[in-house]
This record gives sequence, structure tokens and C-alpha cells, in this order.
Amino acid sequence: MNLYQFVSDSINKAVEQNVTLEVPKSREFGDFSTNVAMVLAKSMGKAPREIAAEILPKIAALEFVANASIAGPGFINIKLKDGFILTSANQKLEIKNQKPEIIDLDYGAYNIAKTMHIGHMRGSIIGDTLYRIAKFLGHRPISYNHIGDWGKPMALVIAWIMKKFPNDWNKPDFKIKETEFNDYYPAASAYAKENPEFLKQVLQIKKDFQDGHPEYFALYEKMMKISLDDMETIVQRLGIIPFDNTLGERNAAKYVDIVEKILREKNLLQMDNGATIINLKTDADTAPMPPFMFYDSRGADTYDSTDLAALYYRKITDNPDKIIYMSDARQNLHFEQLFRVAELSRIFPRDGLESMGFGSINGKDGRPLKTRDGAAATLHGAIDIVEDAAQIRITESGKNLPINTIKTIALAALKFNDLMHDVKSDYVFDADAVTQFEGRTGPYILYTAVRLNSVLKKAGNFVKAKKISQLQIDERNLLLGILDFERTVQNAFDRRAPDILANYTYDLCQLANTFYHNCPILREDVDADTRAHRLQIATIARDTLATAIDLMGLKIPEEM
Ligand code: ARG
Repeated sequence: MNLYQFVSDSINKAVEQNVTLEVPKSREFGDFSTNVAMVLAKSMGKAPREIAAEILPKIAALEFVANASIAGPGFINIKLKDGFILTSANQKLEIKNQKPEIIDLDYGAYNIAKTMHIGHMRGSIIGDTLYRIAKFLGHRPISYNHIGDWGKPMALVIAWIMKKFPNDWNKPDFKIKETEFNDYYPAASAYAKENPEFLKQVLQIKKDFQDGHPEYFALYEKMMKISLDDMETIVQRLGIIPFDNTLGERNAAKYVDIVEKILREKNLLQMDNGATIINLKTDADTAPMPPFMFYDSRGADTYDSTDLAALYYRKITDNPDKIIYMSDARQNLHFEQLFRVAELSRIFPRDGLESMGFGSINGKDGRPLKTRDGAAATLHGAIDIVEDAAQIRITESGKNLPINTIKTIALAALKFNDLMHDVKSDYVFDADAVTQFEGRTGPYILYTAVRLNSVLKKAGNFVKAKKISQLQIDERNLLLGILDFERTVQNAFDRRAPDILANYTYDLCQLANTFYHNCPILREDVDADTRAHRLQIATIARDTLATAIDLMGLKIPEEM
């Protein structure tokens, strides 16, 4: 149950006021506190302590309150009954969502013919977690891997292959060498920067390809196959839920004509040096606001037009309440433009559109993570690095764990570290630090769960605990932590802040470990009642922790 909500509602009813509850840092004086007396003092023209004294009996009379007291200038501290805490924690978690929503989540969004890079990592991990949380809260999330399969990168790679294999590229049995494939895009892109003629050719290829040029298309299908297979591998390696669909730019392109018609009816399109654009700058803009590029000067679709068409497609198929785009912060301006056009064209209301711009993942030098040869780090590479670090750490500690367990631990290290940082902030990627078994790390979280599991397994079936009215302090703290789970998940979702869930989980693990150290369970001198009672607490703790771990997309190994 959502303890905070329950206590807060009950107090509001008792005192007939809208009271804001605080959770004090230390529970020494109370489990909750409120400054309602100070707020009322202003409007009522009385001293806060006087008002507090009037309200106090109403709060103290509540069935679940052990005692209420006045502190300082008029704070009211509230301590809950132990029996109430225990019973509440024992209730089954039942999430009731008043307003389930259809939410399209746009994340991952890898590209055909371009290696998945470190910039795709946060979106994949955070997107997957938000998807899981949305489901857990009773919403209907639909995940879109809006793949880049229609733009200039395709044309660059087609042009490059044509240049490299002038006699063979269009033969039906021409095979793309997978080991070389990843080098084509960076090579072509660098070459195009130096050679305007090549670039011109590329842009023409892009237009012809989009118009259905059969030979370009045949080659493109071969590229698609390699890239889609690779995406599937990444989804598996990252342990994220497979996307509900992989409808990207090419699917959207089918709707560009209809969208163009809508824009024309609203008189939004203009010509500008051969390109078709929408001017977005208003007097209120102090920062640069470039125009929305609907068609390039060759009349080809663009990242802008396909994104708008994709939005239209989602509107007519899912009719979602919200669409959330997750991508790195460098795309914030693009989404601002997209949302403005969606609003202007009435394709989608502005308040249903959100973008989450992620901070970047940096190396220890504070610059975006690079591979040894200076290229942007790849997503596969980042996973490899953490797997190696986990392997070394585990071997050094003298443990002998199966390779799959090591991979599970490594992935938890990588993902938890990503989730625990504020989505907007940059962070430094340090494989050695994140694979530590102590501290705010994924392995620490898993270790706590494995330990609880092992106690419970050793205990086997235990008798049901007798009703208890008093809790030991560490039992009490742990249960209060557990009872904050529901509120935490709701907060993490409402604020689009998975770090709230991740950091809560870390705190919960600390409470669980303190409990484990100070409250012996299976030791011989522990009497049967206490043992049963503690096993019950350990079970609730394990279940809550397991749910949190699952929402973050991590897996608990058998052993560690
Ligand atoms: N494919 C793009 C990239 O790799 C991200 C696409 C984000 N989603 C969108 N609807 N624009 O940068």
C-alpha cells in the first residue's frame, strides 16, 4: 500500500485541512511530520503552537497513530503503531490507476547501416524501464523503435558500396561483407565532407531511392537485414523487452503525402531556396529557431517530415493520450520544432507531447566516450567493457561463477548506473566503479536480493508468525521503507525520473542489510516466533526488492 497517501488522506479527513506530510530524514521523533499549523497560523492570525495544540488530539485519535507531538515552532510529529506498520506491509500490492492512459514510447531508435553507438544506450535502458513502470501502473504503453531507415545515411552507404564494388554492387548475388559493413558509414560520411561531387551524388541517390529505384532498393534490403539482426542482438544483450514495433522512417514516409495536404490546407508550407519549409520563429523566441525542413531541395523526405508523419500515423492507429520521445539532449531542438508543427497543424495537441533529452555518457576525461581509436564508443563495445570488468573483479575475488551469471551481474552494473543518474545530467562511464559489489551499484542491489533469497531458501517452509505488536527498530525501518515503494514508483513515473526508483532501491537494500546484520533469523538461539516473524519480514522485503529490480530490467542470479 501507499503508506504516505493513506496517512495523508486520513489526516486530511480528521483535521479537515489539506495537510502536506513530510518524511523526516531521521525517524527519531516521528515517521511523518507536518507544518500545517504554521500554514494555518497566517490565515487565522493565531500562534502556530496554539493551532497545533488544537489539531493534535484529532491526529492522536487516529487508530493507526501511536503518538503525536508538537515540536519547535509548531511542527507536528506523528509516530505510527508497529502493529499497523506490519499489517500494512503484509497487504498485497494492489495498484489502482484511476486513469489508465495509452502512451506511445519512442526510444531505442537505432539506424540502418550505422553502428549503434553509446548515444543509443540511455534511451534503450531508460525507455525500457519507463515502459515496465507504465505497465505496472496500469497504463497501456506501446513501444516504438523508430528506426532510421529512410535518410541520408542509407544513401551514403549505397553510394559507398557502389564506389567500392562498381561492377558487382547491383548483381542479385552480391553479398555485403558483414565484417566490413560497419566501416562504410563513417568512411562515406568523411569522404562526402571532402568531396562535394560525391555528396551531390549521395543526395540524388537519396531522392531516387525514396522514389523506389529498384537496384538501390535491392541493396538497401540487404543492408536492412544485417542491421535488423544486429538490433535484435542488442535487445537481447541489453535484456530489454522486445519493441512492440519497429516502424520507423520508412513506414512513416507512406503518410508524408497526407500530412503535406494537411499542412497545405493550413497554409503552413513555404518555399525556401528550393526546399519546402515551415517557419517557426516567433517574436517570443530569443534562442535560434530554424525552420522545419519538410522536403529538401530535391523534394526528398527528411528527418523532420518523416517524424511528423510518424506522429500522424500514431495518432490514427493508437490514438494515444501521450507520446514520449526519448533521445539524447542534442535532439531537443528537433523535438521542439516537431511539437510546434504538430500543434500548428492540429495533428496532435502540444500538451500530449513530451521529449526527454538525455545527458551524455562521458569518458574519464569528461568528454563523450570514445573507443581507443577515437571513434564514438559503440553500444556493443560498452557492454563488452563492463562484462570484462565484471569478469576480472569476480575472478580476483576468488569466486567461481558461471559465465551467464557474470553477464547478468555486468548488465546490472551497466543499467543500474545509468538509471541512478538524473536523466538530464551527463555522467562518467567507469566500468571498474560500477562493477563493485559495495556501494551504490547494480551488483550490490543483486547481492542483497540473492542474500535474502538464500536465507529464505535455507529456512524452507516456515510457520506463520504470531501477531506481533512491537517491532525491533531495524525491522521497523525496513518495513517503512517497503511501504514507500508504491509512492516511489508513481513518483518515478510522473516525473519521468527512473533515478527516483533506482536510488530508492539502493536505500531499501541498505535497510535490508542492516536488518540482516542486526536481526538474526536462522541462528540457533533465535526462538521460533521471532524466526517466523523475521522470515515474514524478509519475504516481504525480497518481494518488494524483486519487483523493483524487475522494473529496472535487471535479473536476480541464482548465486553470487
Ligand atoms: N534514429 C535517431 C538517432 O539515432 C533517433 C530517433 C529518435 N526518435 C524520433 N522519433 N525522432 O539519432
